[in-house]
This record gives sequence, structure tokens and C-alpha cells, in this order.
Amino acid sequence: MAGQYQAPRGTFDVLPEESARRARIYVAAADLLARAGYERIETPVFEDTELFERSVGESTDIVRKEMFTFEDHGGRSITLRPEATAGICRAYVEHGMHKLAQPVKLWAWGPFFRYEAPQAGRFRQFHQIDAEAVGTDSPLVDAEQVILLDDLLRGLGIEGIRLRLSSLGTADSRAAYREELKAYLRANESEISGDVRERIDANPMRAFDADDESTRAVMAEAPRMIDRLSDEDASHFAEVRGHLDRAGVEYELDGTLVRGLDYYTRTVFEFESDRLGAQAALGGGGRYDGLVAELGGPEAPACGWAAGIERILLALPDAEREPVVSVFIAAPDEQRDRALALAVELRRAGIGADLDLATRSIKGQMKQADRVGAATTVIVDADGSARLRDMSSGEQRPVELDRVAEELA
Ligand code: HAM
Repeated sequence: MAGQYQAPRGTFDVLPEESARRARIYVAAADLLARAGYERIETPVFEDTELFERSVGESTDIVRKEMFTFEDHGGRSITLRPEATAGICRAYVEHGMHKLAQPVKLWAWGPFFRYEAPQAGRFRQFHQIDAEAVGTDSPLVDAEQVILLDDLLRGLGIEGIRLRLSSLGTADSRAAYREELKAYLRANESEISGDVRERIDANPMRAFDADDESTRAVMAEAPRMIDRLSDEDASHFAEVRGHLDRAGVEYELDGTLVRGLDYYTRTVFEFESDRLGAQAALGGGGRYDGLVAELGGPEAPACGWAAGIERILLALPDAEREPVVSVFIAAPDEQRDRALALAVELRRAGIGADLDLATRSIKGQMKQADRVGAATTVIVDADGSARLRDMSSGEQRPVELDRVAEELA
């Protein structure tokens, strides 16, 4: 089958119909985040591999198994970004954003890449909307961010939303806990999966994400970080919960929530929908107080989240297709120049208009008007007179061609 190419495994084309649904999510997010003082940032689609190793973490699934990494022609190791936070923090440091008024609130939208086994809601190229507030440790920010994502998902009309919330403490308070958890895992070594056993030292907390039943049974009894928080971590977390309670945001405290990236400290959260199958996470995030310094920047505690656009689309109720244009101009051959002139005039007046570009008969043009969802069709007759047809009622009335724009405005 020469010339029959397909999009690579785990990727997809966004066709026009789907693209309109995506645009609605984009507009809702852009609007919501702008109202909350977040400004748009765009970072490159690829970064130095080391950036993700340092931030996402070398023992995570993302870095170990899922990155699209290659050498460029200069022998540098490059990786297609698997997430947004690392690049945004790199940009924060590179551009000296710590000198701006803090926190710096940024949001991003774009494609991300993970080499995962494709299935419903899980792709190798997917899209995220991402929000970050860098430069404050105030629990107000954690709460603000959870509320924003909650508002976004609910505002889009997603139902069956659950919010899981936990705290992972700071690196210091977690060190003692990790030892306790490692000892527990070793004591139960015979019951846990090979994958978890291999990572007892490097990443013991990943055990909470294991899928196999036997490991899950062990983890149900395992000590939880949420019960080992230092006084400061606990009071930070209590403040976050207080703000969420006052805002009426419902959540489940879930000490098994660990997230698959290494940079988190204190608050972590994840939104799920029961409208989704196995890949239930709509989006998630949390606080990452040490990451900016880890990347060579100043101390800049931060918090953020990302939501998956494809997951949101799957969870959304089906919507009717939006009209392509609101006005269609039907004209016989000898009047096509006037049809084009009228379309141009209407477009310049801010009205979506199209005309036949495929030499259809008038009957064929009326069908085309239906297909593009036009509310009104301007029918130009052979003698240059014109009628306006309301496409839902079928009613028609005469109109002067040079007054159509005025009539429709
Ligand atoms: P994450 O949980 O890895 O977090 O990804 C966020 C969301 O992206 C997921 O909840 C899911 O909706 C979507 N997603 C992830 N992988 C795939 C995939 N293979 N196919 C489709 N959708 C996917 C992060 O990426 C963090 N950077 C979030 C964050 C920002 N934390 C702090 N700031």
C-alpha cells in the first residue's frame, strides 16, 4: 500500500469537528486563568534531557520508561517534554523571574509526549493545560489552584468528579518516613511485585500506585506520610483544607495519593471522573517547594497543576456540532462574482459567511448551506435580485444585495 501512511501509534489527528470542542476548553481555561491573574507562557517542546531527570526524577516511570529521548546532530541529549512544570521552572530561573513581584503566575497549553501503552484516554502525544504559581509558600495558593481546576472542570459540565487530596510533607520530614516505609516493604517483600521490590530504595512511595492485588493488599496496611507530617507541614495542610472547606470544595483525604513525579512537597491533589475508565485522572498537581532551587535558581516555593485535554473531552457530555459559518450565499454561475463580493463584505463586517466553491447546482448549494449549519442563506437569483432564507423556518423575504450586511448585523 504505497503512500498509505497513518499517524504514529498513540498519536491522533485533531479533525475539524473535534477541534471546535477543544477550542471551547481552551477559551474556558484561558478566560478563567486570566481572571485569576495567570499569564500565558510558552516554552519549547523539547528540552535538555537532564532537565527532566533532575525535576521529574530518575526513578520515576516517566523518566525511566516513557521519555522520547534522542541525540541531536551536535550530540546533545534532547527529550520531548513529558510535562510542563520543568520547562516553566527552567524559564523562571533563566529569565530571572524571581526579581518580579512574587508569586509569578503562569499558564500553558500544548502537546506533551510520553511513551506509554496507548489505550482509551492514554496517548503518546497528548495535550495539557497547566497552571503554575512560583515564588510563594502561602497555603492560599494551594487552595486557589485546587479551586481553579475544580471551577474549570465543573464549568465545562463534567459530572462525577472526585477530588483526592493529601500532603507529602517536606523533603526533611519525608526522609524519616521513607525509611519506615522501606523497612515495611522489606518486611513484606515476598508479597509485593518485582517492579516495586526493585525500587524499594530508589522510590518506595511508588508502591502505593501498584496495580497488582497482592501489592495493593500490602499497601492498604502500610504507614502513610499523611500521618507523619511535621507540625509545620500539618498546619500548612490544615490551612489549605480550611480554605477549601470555606469555598465549598469537596475532597477525600487520601494518604495513598503519591503522584508519579518526584518534585512534590506538601499538598498534592488529583481530580478524577467516574465517567472515565481505567485512566480516571482528569488532572492533578501539587506543591513543589524545592524544584526551582534544585534547578539552580533561588529558593522559590511553588504550586501548580495540569489537566489532560483528551481526558476532559472523554468525560464531557456529547455536544452538538457548532455551525461552521452563520450565513451561506447561494448563487447561479452568472452571479458568483457577486456572491464572493458579498461573502467578503459580510466577513469584514464580522459575520461568518461562505459561498459555493465547487460549482454546485442551486439545490446542491442549499444542501451545502445545511451542512455548514448556516442559520441564514442569501439566495442570489440570475437577475441579481436576492432573498434571505431562514434555514430553520424556511421563510424567505426579498432583500437588496447591498443591504444584506445591514439586515444581518
Ligand atoms: P500528571 O499527573 O503527570 O501531572 O499529568 C497531568 C494530567 O495529564 C493527567 O491527570 C492526565 O489527565 C494527563 N495525562 C498524563 N499522561 C497522559 C497520557 N499519556 N495521555 C493522555 N493524558 C495524559 C503533571 O504532568 C504535572 N506536571 C502537573 C503539575 C503541574 N504539577 C505541578 N505543576
